[in-house]
Amino acid sequence: MAEKDLNALFLDTLKDIYYAEKQILKALPKMAKAARSDQLRAAFEKHHDETEGQIERLDQIFEMMDKPARGKKCDAIEGIIEEGKEIMDEYKGSAALDPGLLAAAQAVEHYEIARYGTLKAWAEKLSMPEAAKLIDETLTEEKKTDDTLSKLAVAAINAEAA
Ligand SMILES: [Fe+2]
Repeated sequence: MAEKDLNALFLDTLKDIYYAEKQILKALPKMAKAARSDQLRAAFEKHHDETEGQIERLDQIFEMMDKPARGKKCDAIEGIIEEGKEIMDEYKGSAALDPGLLAAAQAVEHYEIARYGTLKAWAEKLSMPEAAKLIDETLTEEKKTDDTLSKLAVAAINAEAA
């Protein structure tokens, strides 16, 4: 068996985040539906649209590499999304639901930020500036989303306490 290199690792990680994005795309409408605050629902809906664009960017990178766009089961995102589902079930009807949904969503964002940060660095190392640029665009969106969620989280905690 040939020794796996950074190129193989980059492709594997690209498949991991591709799988993750598709799971997130499916989870976001459910989270939007569950959200109690209109602002939070709007934030989830907006990020759902952004996620579609992020998947398209990944499609472009697979194409640049002449590889089929294919996901690889990511246990990490499955676990994070599963925890979000538990919160939706267990806190249904509670004022603590939105803070819980926000916590779950921020865990998702942080996972994505970690992955895209790594992928960007590897793309640069592998002399793939076009891929690095696309990854950076997504990374910026994820960070902005995380920032919005942080602000909503403060508002949600205050509303819960009131
Ligand atoms: Fe994403």
